[in-house]
Amino acid sequence: MEIIREIGEVQKKIKEWKDAGESIGFVPTMGYLHRGHGSLIERAARENDRVVVSVFVNPMQFDNCNDLDSYPSDLSGDMDLVTGSGGDLIFSPTVQEIYPRGFNSLVEVENLDNELCGATRPGHFRGVCTVLTKFFLILAPHRVYFGKKDYQQLMVVKRMVADLNIPLEIIGCTTVREESGLAMSSRNARLSEDEKRKALIINQTLKAVKDRVIQGEVEVEKIRRWAIERIEGVGGAVVDYFEIVHPDTLQKITKIEDKAVAATAVFIGKSRLIDNIILGGK
Ligand code: PAJ
Repeated sequence: MEIIREIGEVQKKIKEWKDAGESIGFVPTMGYLHRGHGSLIERAARENDRVVVSVFVNPMQFDNCNDLDSYPSDLSGDMDLVTGSGGDLIFSPTVQEIYPRGFNSLVEVENLDNELCGATRPGHFRGVCTVLTKFFLILAPHRVYFGKKDYQQLMVVKRMVADLNIPLEIIGCTTVREESGLAMSSRNARLSEDEKRKALIINQTLKAVKDRVIQGEVEVEKIRRWAIERIEGVGGAVVDYFEIVHPDTLQKITKIEDKAVAATAVFIGKSRLIDNIILGGK
């Protein structure tokens, strides 16, 4: 498994592969990889000749210095996971390589970032879109793989790629969960055993919301209040947001008449965990 840190080097490697007629899959990550990332890499390996995984903790998308500083990392574990999942190369540039002195450009998708994580983490998606645009231009892959756990991120990136005519395909992949139902996340590493138990309430509540909708409940506000109370009822869980939104526009809705997405972010101890579930529709 090769790790490349320089833009010029990774471009040389990709040119070799493309000159040989090979297709390139790309999985962008911030490292501390787990089976959720692994499932994206495995899918990319099935659908492409070569797979590049980026490991870059992007300072521009963090609104909180403590969160950035305490973001976990383990490059040797990441190498094992990428190899085991069928990846070919890790691109792990330095912050200096990606944001050299004088860097002064931003990419922003409007409107889709008003709600959910965009509302409570101002500038977050601008940071995500800026770094991804750079990676897309540096690597020029054929297909790029994202998890549906970060539902809003997936929708924002799809919009950006369509709006800017970036010539690649964005592929959304199913959320991988622990047996307990907890969505896998690099941030779970910071949870104590007790916090991990408490975190189960997130997915349990999303599933219970889905059941209520199946049983005929359509009033969003009623469901929201009930869900927030249920999550915070475990003690030590603080809901950042719990919203039900249109699956494409991500705008809040008041009644569930067709497909919708229930999405939530919850602080458990110091960790902010997100999850979502698709509701309604056929
Ligand atoms: P990171 O949180 O490392 O996630 C990288 C990719 O893995 C994202 O597409 C995310 O949705 C996916 N992923 C994480 N947990 C998953 C799970 N349990 N099941 C399936 N997929 C999962 O998201 C980012 O990094 C960054 O914002 C990034 C896109 C790399 C830009 O900096």
